[in-house]
Amino acid sequence: MAGAARHEGREALAAGVRTLRGGGLVIFPTETVYGLAADAANAEAVAKLYLAKGRPAFNPLIIHLSDWRLAARIARLDGRALALISAFWPGPLTIVAPVADEALVCALARAGLDTVAVRAPRHPLAMALLDRFGGSVAAPSANRSGRPSPTTLADAVAETGDAASAAIDGGPCEVGLESTVLALLDGPPRLLRPGAVTRQELEAVIGPVAEALGDARRSPGRMARHYAPVSPLRLDAEAPASGEAFLAFGASPDGPRIFNLSPTANLAEAAANLFSYLRAADALNPTAIAVAPIPPSGLGEAINDRLKRAAGRVG
Ligand code: TXA
Ligand code: MG
Repeated sequence: MAGAARHEGREALAAGVRTLRGGGLVIFPTETVYGLAADAANAEAVAKLYLAKGRPAFNPLIIHLSDWRLAARIARLDGRALALISAFWPGPLTIVAPVADEALVCALARAGLDTVAVRAPRHPLAMALLDRFGGSVAAPSANRSGRPSPTTLADAVAETGDAASAAIDGGPCEVGLESTVLALLDGPPRLLRPGAVTRQELEAVIGPVAEALGDARRSPGRMARHYAPVSPLRLDAEAPASGEAFLAFGASPDGPRIFNLSPTANLAEAAANLFSYLRAADALNPTAIAVAPIPPSGLGEAINDRLKRAAGRVG
């Protein structure tokens, strides 16, 4: 956004649609995190996305749309996919399925794979942008590759604003963690990325969900170090050591270097605060960021996944 005009409200939406049509990049809010959007059918626009993020071109993008019928033209959606779509869309669930129409999403956005990831976000400004644009939109999180996802417009602009020609302000993101990514290919459903729609919620609709295979081709984004702040992380810490910042969870003393993810131990609140508190703690240049234990079930699975990746502990 360095040289770009700032617009408010309806003007920002109109500028967003114009920018997408012209092959430019748009920062926009979703219910999960801020995204950086490009026309998914325009390979040149999508190439700008990879460049802006410093993202390896083997890591495919999620295709955003406002209408499940467009998703059904892009991807081959089976009965399981349709059941999940009726339960969770619009919302933070991304479905990976075999690609149906290769022209609707350029090969670069799919990183050349024969599968494609589709998602319909539920943020009203995202829905309005996608609806008015009418086509499919490739949108990774608006951070530089390997950094925490932005959950406010200011954080997004600080990460990739130089590459964006328009930006839409939707306030802080409601969920704060990226969408759940579920592969529906041959065999059982596989959880490629835990997220805001929990494993338990998925299983209530389609039965057992298997782990992702350690297969780089099927889950290319699952690189070990991801979402990482600059400072090292120390997980499952009961209290901070001297020189450390502390992400607390539940009852905890206050302090200048203590950020409480949720004083009432509420996982949804902790998810919403996670990335912005990681950034704030990191900005203090601590010797390390100590993080309190977070319960493993429900939304805790996604929170622990992001923390382990930020600590470089997941393979
Ligand atoms: O919540 C979200 O999903 C946010 C907002 C902006 O919608 N977007 C987001 O995009 O997190 P990104 O690019 O940061 O993460 C996309 C993830 C990556 O892990 C990528 O590898 C995976 O989705 N993915 C995309 N297409 C895939 C495919 N065909 N097969 C397997 N994984 C895929
Ligand atoms: Mg991302």
